[in-house]
Amino acid sequence: MSDSAFGVAAASKAADAIRQRIGSATPIAGIILGTGLGGLAQRIANPIDVPFAEVPGFPSATVVGHAGKLIGGTLSGRPVVALAGRFHMYEGHDAALAGFPVRVLHALGAPTLFVSNAAGGIRRTFRAGDLMLIRDHLNLMFRNPLIGPLESGDTRFPDMSAPYDEELCAQLRVHAAQLGIQLQEGVYGGLLGPTYETPTEVRMLATLGADAVGMSTVPEVIVARAIGMRVAGISCITNLASGISPHPLSHAEVIETTTRVAAQFESLVERFVGGL
Ligand code: HPA
Repeated sequence: MSDSAFGVAAASKAADAIRQRIGSATPIAGIILGTGLGGLAQRIANPIDVPFAEVPGFPSATVVGHAGKLIGGTLSGRPVVALAGRFHMYEGHDAALAGFPVRVLHALGAPTLFVSNAAGGIRRTFRAGDLMLIRDHLNLMFRNPLIGPLESGDTRFPDMSAPYDEELCAQLRVHAAQLGIQLQEGVYGGLLGPTYETPTEVRMLATLGADAVGMSTVPEVIVARAIGMRVAGISCITNLASGISPHPLSHAEVIETTTRVAAQFESLVERFVGGL
């Protein structure tokens, strides 16, 4: 077995430590909560919090809007493990560390990964506050978490023809309709950050096929696909992207918008988990 810092062996060690805290129920899903979307944690019943700093192999999260903790408990009566916070490459982390929490969720037994993020809206019909079902992504980070020796259980050349599971997407559409949420759909363009984009970069992204842009998620989804997890994801369009927005972008606007749509987002995830 490979013993790379963020590989399978390290994930198994982290999972053992987490189980000692939250118990050994197998999660039906692992959930990654993006910037400002950590409020879902409040809907988790019988929650047990584990700060990232107490998980072997995890650095502590540093970004405003990220609690930096893992929560075990039940959502819609089903066992889940949620991460309020994640590891971004703009913090200086390797792609392999950005994807490491997914290996840990897999080691805990989660067959499905639900990812969420805050993103800038590129498609002209998007408005701040929209929720976007992620149909595909563009890896414009030019890094890949799988570079290095092959981890046991990984696929060397993972298929990425359907990274976001069609059936799970269909379920999310149904849940959104039942909740009266108008769910947008599109392609997430993942950039390194931490600068927001220039207007020309946003025009380039539109030409390349991105409907939304953000600084996370891609390494996590790549790892999930390499180890055979099913993936579904939602972007919260927190702002119109640079050059489309009439005002300068700010993290404050991102947080403000996520706060506004948090309840809708949380209801959608709750139903999604209940339907798994
Ligand atoms: N660009 C990149 N990342 C983001 C944005 C954006 O406009 N909004 C929220 N995260």
